[in-house]
Amino acid sequence: MEIKVIVGDITKIKTGAIIVNFFEGMERPDGDLATIDKALDGAIFQLISQGEIKGKLSEVTIIHSLGKLPAARVVIAGLGKQQELSQDRVRGVVAETCRILRQKGVDSIATIAQGAGIAGISLEDAAQAVTEGALLGVYSFRRHITKEAEYGEIKQLTIVDAAKANLPILEQGYHKGRILAEATNLARDMVNEPANYMTPNQMAETAKRLAETYGLGLSVFEREQMQELGMGALLGVTQGSRQPPKFIVLHYRGGDSTEIDVALVGKGITFDSGGISIKPSEGMAEMKGDMAGGAAVMAAMSAIAQLKPKINVVAIIPATENLPSDNALKPGDILTAMSGKTIEIISTDAEGRLILADALGYAKKLGAGFMVDVATLTGACRVALGDVCSGAFSNNQELMDKVIAAGAKAGELVWQMPMYEQYKEQNKSDVADIKNIGGKYGGAITAAQFLAEFVGDTPWVHLDIAGTSLSEKERTYLVKGATGVPVRTLVNLALSLAK
Ligand code: BES
Ligand code: MN
Ligand code: ZN
Repeated sequence: MEIKVIVGDITKIKTGAIIVNFFEGMERPDGDLATIDKALDGAIFQLISQGEIKGKLSEVTIIHSLGKLPAARVVIAGLGKQQELSQDRVRGVVAETCRILRQKGVDSIATIAQGAGIAGISLEDAAQAVTEGALLGVYSFRRHITKEAEYGEIKQLTIVDAAKANLPILEQGYHKGRILAEATNLARDMVNEPANYMTPNQMAETAKRLAETYGLGLSVFEREQMQELGMGALLGVTQGSRQPPKFIVLHYRGGDSTEIDVALVGKGITFDSGGISIKPSEGMAEMKGDMAGGAAVMAAMSAIAQLKPKINVVAIIPATENLPSDNALKPGDILTAMSGKTIEIISTDAEGRLILADALGYAKKLGAGFMVDVATLTGACRVALGDVCSGAFSNNQELMDKVIAAGAKAGELVWQMPMYEQYKEQNKSDVADIKNIGGKYGGAITAAQFLAEFVGDTPWVHLDIAGTSLSEKERTYLVKGATGVPVRTLVNLALSLAK
């Protein structure tokens, strides 16, 4: 989709559809809507009077202009109650409107910066939200479908503003929105890709492409280097698979110093069968998305490289399959992580925390100032929070608050979970320093406490995205399948830490 920002009068644009807004509780059209209503001989006012247009959130009314305006259609998109409007609501309304218009075969749209000036939404934020909503909402993953789609794509979206002075502000919002949405869609593509395509090697190839395109530094460690570094926990998980593991490290240098300010660590299990502690076959296909954390940190780096904050960021992605075989890790085995800590394996299905133990260990070795890890870590987190928000766990409230704020700005909700030290009890082993599962209850927290053992004093946040990485259905700007959470949160965080 081509998006452009222009100065002009929306009522005079020749396009497939112009989108304008109406708020709940308003009695008559005003501003542009009044002009349009006049051109349409009062059709809008009539629909309002009759109660067909109420302005409810995501209500979409399409009126054909039949030559009374240069645009073929006027679309009135409800934005709900004015005082309840948010940037995220704008994203959602734009997404839903675009999908409806696409289905009707409309391929060019013009809109205003929806929501600008309402409920504290700046013009820049509005333009960003419109851009993100459009690009995220019409996302589809058709790479493996050979038959043609039922409908075409929206080719052009024009954001229009009457004031020339607003143009650079709108451009700025559009620019940021485009980068964030494209990064999110990149993560979605990686997660939606099945495990026979998105292998650890393919993840490394994707990292290589990003490094070349955006000028990021890249190292990819092979099994031998993992051995040299003593990454026994990661090596244990990978030993049951024929696919060579990859330990991917992407560097972004925007700061003045040589120090690494933030390490973003992402779980890169390209398929999680559970290993010897094999999962039930029902729903196992979902586990092709067990690299969503890795995909998110990689995609976030591509956006960070384009937005260029003054900060040094490294992304670390341990990538491997988790499969059973005659050489696979077994329950009862004891592994030694890079940090030197020994781990008793109770379930080979608790593999995420094992590979993250070594990835966090490596981040520490690099001397990262802050660490954020992202992982589809526990079914327990999904049970606790559903698909509405990701679970967040931390040893540092200041960093935690920044992550929550970065998530809120992105519309990617985050909920802080407790880290009381009493939970550590459940991870105690009789035969090693720690065991890899903490029993039946509080599974998301005991998993986080396991990770904490490998983090030490470095300020750290762990995001469990087991519930939020996939969506079962279309909702607002999410479509069925991968969500791309929390790419935009991570980028916002890097921007806020750079200040
Ligand atoms: N990748 C899974 C967690 C998961 C479950 C992600 C559902 C997305 C949706 C993880 O590796 C896993 O298997 N966790 C186990 C841990 C248990 C063995 C302690 C789980 O949650 O059942
Ligand atoms: Mn597992
Ligand atoms: Zn897993």
